[in-house]
Amino acid sequence: MIKYHAETRTFFLHGRTTSYVFRVCPEGDLEHIHYGKRVGEDDFSCLVPASELSFSPVPPGAVRQGFSLNVMAGEYGGYGQGDFRTPSALIARQDGEICSRFVYRGHRFHALDFGDLPCARGGETLEVELTDLCSNVLLRLYYTVFEEEDVVCRAAEFINAGQSAVTLRRAFSFAVDLEGGDYDVFRLAGRHLAERTPERTDLGHGTLEICSMRGASSHQMNPFGALIARGAGEDEGECYGAELLYSGSFSLRFERGETERVRISGGIDDTNFSWKLEPGERFITPQAALAFSAEGLGGLSRRFHDFLRARVIPKRDVFAPRPIVVNNWEATYFDFTAEKLFALIDEAAQLGVDTFVLDDGWFGKRNSDKSSLGDWTVNEEKLAGGLAPLAERCHRRGLKFGIWFEPEMVSEDSELFRAHPDWAIGKPPRCTGRNQYILDFSRADVSDYLYGRMAEILSRYGVDYVKWDMNRHMTEFFSAALPADRQGELQHRYLLNVYALARRLKKEFPDVFFEGCSGGGGRFDAGMLAFFPQIWTSDDTDAYERAKIQWGTSYAYPMSAMSCHVSVCPNHQTGRITPFSSRGALTSLGATGYELDLCALTEEEKGQVAEQIANYKKIARLVLEGDCYRLSDPFKSNYFAMMTVSKDKSEAYAVGMTALAVPADFSRRIRLKGLDGRGEYLVEELGVKFCGASLMNAGLPMPRLNDFSAWSLHLHRVG
Ligand code: DGJ
Repeated sequence: MIKYHAETRTFFLHGRTTSYVFRVCPEGDLEHIHYGKRVGEDDFSCLVPASELSFSPVPPGAVRQGFSLNVMAGEYGGYGQGDFRTPSALIARQDGEICSRFVYRGHRFHALDFGDLPCARGGETLEVELTDLCSNVLLRLYYTVFEEEDVVCRAAEFINAGQSAVTLRRAFSFAVDLEGGDYDVFRLAGRHLAERTPERTDLGHGTLEICSMRGASSHQMNPFGALIARGAGEDEGECYGAELLYSGSFSLRFERGETERVRISGGIDDTNFSWKLEPGERFITPQAALAFSAEGLGGLSRRFHDFLRARVIPKRDVFAPRPIVVNNWEATYFDFTAEKLFALIDEAAQLGVDTFVLDDGWFGKRNSDKSSLGDWTVNEEKLAGGLAPLAERCHRRGLKFGIWFEPEMVSEDSELFRAHPDWAIGKPPRCTGRNQYILDFSRADVSDYLYGRMAEILSRYGVDYVKWDMNRHMTEFFSAALPADRQGELQHRYLLNVYALARRLKKEFPDVFFEGCSGGGGRFDAGMLAFFPQIWTSDDTDAYERAKIQWGTSYAYPMSAMSCHVSVCPNHQTGRITPFSSRGALTSLGATGYELDLCALTEEEKGQVAEQIANYKKIARLVLEGDCYRLSDPFKSNYFAMMTVSKDKSEAYAVGMTALAVPADFSRRIRLKGLDGRGEYLVEELGVKFCGASLMNAGLPMPRLNDFSAWSLHLHRVG
């Protein structure tokens, strides 16, 4: 609910349990008042007095003694009029000056059309229009309130209302100056095969930046960050989170300055960003989702999960049963024939798998990663008869047929690159990554070409499932199609056309299920989730490593967004041997599947596959819809445990894993969370009943287990 009090010129943005409050201050700037637990609609001017601070410039038009933008808690930082903190926008005028001061012009309740950018569905939107006193640019700040999910989305729109061009050198999505205090910053860092490792450090003074300059949101740093009050933890204390609905180079900044306030701001990374606005033109930033929780990081995660599921992930897919996949990548890599795949399909059908996904290597002359990206025609030498016999075999056996694409890439050794060398980003000599170049998606002719190739394959073979991969990051940021003064637009234009292609394909093929991927989880973000309901979480399929990766991913993203497959042992990434049952248990905490040669399994293992699938079907709704609770942190202890509880608390499912067996560790218990304290639950696997409060406060004995062995518990409320 959004309310405006005209007497105090104050905006109240209320969620179910939170309030976000700001006002137009006497000087006309937007002044932040409160973000946190819900408050009343009072006159808060006593909370935001102008107070003198030496070396803080007084801007023109100040009406209060001591007023300085440097001291004020703002809603969007200008530059050059005395605010020395991180600017939210840098607008260069034609005379070269960069200076901005944004003052209130008016407001209305009006939602923005984000065009090709992903955006959250619904909510109530406030548009506040500001004018830049230094340039002729209008700035519109958008606040969309999702009351039920307790999330506020922010975005900005710039309109050049002047007579000459201006250039945006930075255009962040949001900024907010929070009350001063001792805070930690939490982020999800990592690398290929080890994505989204949680890290919490003291903010101290100065700026802590979470960013990617790779043209993709990246494995290395996720576009999610949280500010945690010192002392807050997993289940208690106050924290703020920010998550960008964006998949490219980004920046999230946490800055604590001389007033002790903390400015959180962010949006597109501006290391190599600029956007020229001719008179009348406008630029729209990606959306940022902000959440506050007084129930620690656990509460913050559940807010983001609910928000992403209700407002971002495609409605049609989000709660629908997910395909149970067998993917041939780790089973065959590039070395397959139609015969080999037929056998895999037949075995999959026997065991209850419902979708076969043909991974990399089916097109051009691709027998290794050295060639053919861009040549999306079937390699009939390798696959006798092409894709049709495979698709038919799947459909005859009752399986869906899926296929892998890496649409944004081109190999140097490809027909496409030979025909259109200027379609690759950069100029020679340029870097390769996995022997490939990136296609210049800022060009409409490039994305149109890809649409044509993909649409043809999808319709010709009745494809049911697409895995959309992206296996390198950007270098040499140059487009042959852009003029010199627009080269800084390349990365964002690239992404707009990637989103547009995904949108177009999904519209044209509404029954095709899309999974995202980027060398594992290198583009696991809320922008991609607006198109792909699930994303391949990591190329690391080792059960123990996956426990950690899934744990880290859960801080920002729901279980249902994590695509997880059982793979073979010794594991291809770590060489580790883990029990088959552990691999199954871990993958059941996401969109499950298999990534191994089912035909090579022992009879006992095949039996386990059938059993795992049957069990998964029983708990799938909990994975799709439930509230996620983290129980035992595998980064800090020998034990991993997570659970999901249905919204009505009638059912729950928990999975745990011991890293290394510990002798005589008898006294350890696992305490469950999120249950109905007064309810009585039957623990299916143990055949015993416990009261919810007992399960949460006394816990259950931690099963005594061997190295890397896992347990799972399915609970039903019976009273
Ligand atoms: C990277 C992906 O993460 C893998 O699952 C697989 O699809 C390979 N690419 C294929 O090249």
